[in-house]
Amino acid sequence: MAKELKIAPSLLSADFAHLGEEIEKINRSDADWLHLDVMDGVFVPNISFGFPVLEAAARISTKPLDIHFMIVEPEKFIPRVKKLGDVMMNVHYETCSHLHRVVQEIKDAGMKAGVTLNPSTPVSMLEDIIEDVDMVLLMSVNPGFGGQKFIPHTLQKIAVLRELIARTNSHALIEIDGGVNLQTAPLLAEAGADILVAGSAVFQSPDVTETIHKLKSLQQSR
Ligand code: DX5
Ligand code: ZN
Repeated sequence: MAKELKIAPSLLSADFAHLGEEIEKINRSDADWLHLDVMDGVFVPNISFGFPVLEAAARISTKPLDIHFMIVEPEKFIPRVKKLGDVMMNVHYETCSHLHRVVQEIKDAGMKAGVTLNPSTPVSMLEDIIEDVDMVLLMSVNPGFGGQKFIPHTLQKIAVLRELIARTNSHALIEIDGGVNLQTAPLLAEAGADILVAGSAVFQSPDVTETIHKLKSLQQSR
């Protein structure tokens, strides 16, 4: 059955000198979530932004926040993330030795819990947690930077993840992040992705709202 795709523009590629205006553009668009990338310079070789920006974004965004933590020990920040309001908290599988505990702590705090996989981490690592998570975020580039090239193997991972979700009766949504643009998005929709993150394809396009609209009008097929 065809379903509408959800779109989560990533603020990482926005103009940081005019963040408020950039978020307002997302507010006025068909986007479903606002994707925020937090990097620590340890887990990933880059530093992006932290709570001052998250708190400002939470104040003005009318879209729920989809926060992607590319940091070690993300569990330290659960109470502070919870204060941001309507949040999907995504933690990387690779940063959590006790992933089950972290997912439970996020859910106990009243938030939705997402688990993110690097391109080299197989979907099978989620076998024992898939029934507990609200979303799986498959990285289709190595995390740390916007504007990288899509890794095509992601399409096969979506198929494997779809099968795991169906087999376990999990309600987890599938989100894809990295190299999503008007060329790769139709392939991801066809493969069965539920949500697409797009940074440079949205913010470097001449018309942000129009590009989001085009992405949003693709049909997801299962
Ligand atoms: C990269 C981030 C992405 C980034 C995507 O580590 O997780 O969310 O903003 O950027 P694009 O869409 O330009 O690949
Ligand atoms: Zn991201």
